[in-house]
Amino acid sequence: MQLLDIATYFTSESDVSRVGKGPLADTDLARLYAYPPRPRRPWIRANFVASIDGAVTADGVSAGLGTPSDKVVFSVLRSLADAVLVGAGTVRAENYGGVTFPAETVARRTERGQSETAPLVIVTASANLDPTSRAFTDTVVPPVVLTTTSAPEDARRSLAATGARVVATPGDSVTTASIVESLNTLGLHRILCEGGPGVFGQLLTDDAVDDVCITTSPVFVAGTAGRISHSASSSIRRMTRAHVLADDDGTVLTRWVKHRDGSAAAAGHK
Ligand SMILES: NC(=O)c1ccc[n+]([C@@H]2O[C@H](COP(=O)([O-])OP(=O)(O)OC[C@H]3O[C@@H](n4cnc5c(N)ncnc54)[C@H](OP(=O)(O)O)[C@@H]3O)[C@@H](O)[C@H]2O)c1
Repeated sequence: MQLLDIATYFTSESDVSRVGKGPLADTDLARLYAYPPRPRRPWIRANFVASIDGAVTADGVSAGLGTPSDKVVFSVLRSLADAVLVGAGTVRAENYGGVTFPAETVARRTERGQSETAPLVIVTASANLDPTSRAFTDTVVPPVVLTTTSAPEDARRSLAATGARVVATPGDSVTTASIVESLNTLGLHRILCEGGPGVFGQLLTDDAVDDVCITTSPVFVAGTAGRISHSASSSIRRMTRAHVLADDDGTVLTRWVKHRDGSAAAAGHK
């Protein structure tokens, strides 16, 4: 995987000198995908993989779209995050487990003053999650569940009984403002949203996304798969290209940050 292009306003001279200079090490990737230093509010980054024709799944899950370089960047992004924000649809479809890191990643996180692992923060209106599923049982730390007071009380109680922190806010869905407020209250500022399209669509509509990492897998899928975002209404959000990486197998990995006028890029680096 190598760096094809980088936005010079957004990074350091040492990264500019890496353009076209061959394979990137994990340390190069960690620098290219660094969060802003000491963010004082949740910085929301999303990461998705899609096919050339925009499909977000192949046979109902994203795994069929993954490539070796996508997996490397997926791991680097997790290693930098305070928390992984994910919608219940994705947790159910992909049988999500908790995030785990090798010892050297834990050591680097500790050096940076981050917690040893990044908890899952699951958004669900219904609280219809299986408390015996991997998100609750195959995890180093219990997840946080952001749900609503409309969700059945017994469902909320059975999730809390697993050790999960269950935060219920009034209404039929969890607003973007309360997602951000909960993350902030928990001191979780480097956020990696791994989807799915429902959560991401809402965050985009509410202009809450600072940073988007997209892997284009070198395949066409056709079929009926959806896109990486969906929401009731459409809105145009201008983004700035931060960098483009490419792997020999045809995978293209891009990073987009909120347009400078939208201030996130300017606030991010330098
Ligand atoms: N290619 C990729 O990178 C990628 C990444 C992630 C997911 N995916 C795929 O995307 C598909 C899932 O799509 P999806 O749209 O169902 O995903 P999703 O956004 O993960 O899940 C939607 C569900 O999340 C909950 N939810 C979302 N926003 C909410 C809010 N504001 N308040 C309360 N609950 C909220 C609701 O759960 P309840 O129904 O429990 O109320 C809703 O039904 C799967 O097939 C997965 O494999 C692909």
